[in-house]
Amino acid sequence: MPHYFEPGDPISPDGLEEFDVSLAGQPARVASAPGVFSARRLDPGTAVLLRFEARDGGAPPGRGDLVDLGCGWGPIALTLARLAPEARVWAVDVNRRALALTALNAERLGLGNVSAVSPDAIPPDLEVDLLWSNPPIRVGKQALRQLLRHWLGRLRPGAHADLVAQKHLGADSLIGWLSAQPDWSAAKQASAKGYRVIRVARAEAAAPGQAPQDEASRFGPK
Ligand SMILES: C[S@@+](CC[C@H](N)C(=O)[O-])C[C@H]1O[C@@H](n2cnc3c(N)ncnc32)[C@H](O)[C@@H]1O
Repeated sequence: MPHYFEPGDPISPDGLEEFDVSLAGQPARVASAPGVFSARRLDPGTAVLLRFEARDGGAPPGRGDLVDLGCGWGPIALTLARLAPEARVWAVDVNRRALALTALNAERLGLGNVSAVSPDAIPPDLEVDLLWSNPPIRVGKQALRQLLRHWLGRLRPGAHADLVAQKHLGADSLIGWLSAQPDWSAAKQASAKGYRVIRVARAEAAAPGQAPQDEASRFGPK
């Protein structure tokens, strides 16, 4: 069993905040800590995304590699792990405390299919079957675009990503930029409480016999 509390660790038992949430329709007591996003509650934007997913009825693929990009204390990753216990859920963050909290929450909830890792620990050839994210909009437009290019570029043909973004933080311009990219289609799926849920779908692979696109048109300037 992993040891979460050792000297120098990003979290300590007396620094934890605990609260109750509902994840995948089931109650969950979760731990969080100062210094992570929305440390004392389920973020309202994340709640909009998770409510949309529950209503959409599109359960995640039962197997394969599912990603929560920017996991924080883990609400999205934990939901995916509950909904798809046979799938591998990659909870990715650059914040060590966030990763430690997600790992702790997964362990406490008995979810052995969550890997909470920094981006550099992701296998370089990982192909993603589904990505859900409340992405770090506040990193700035260029950094966000670079991050999304990287992760959306890992979607398998036919796979999609659902992102939630606040309207006043540029959700609509993000949709415009995503829609202009040659490899993906993007559309608003839902709008609630000032947030948009954006679905970004990767084009299906060319049918057998169909001429493959050349590299320039597949990966042309973004
Ligand atoms: C808006 S918060 C969402 C957190 C969590 N998913 C939630 O819903 O509460 C975005 C998260 O992205 C993380 N982040 C920032 N830059 C990142 C990067 N380059 N790669 C992965 N995660 C990043 C932040 O540390 C933060 O935890």
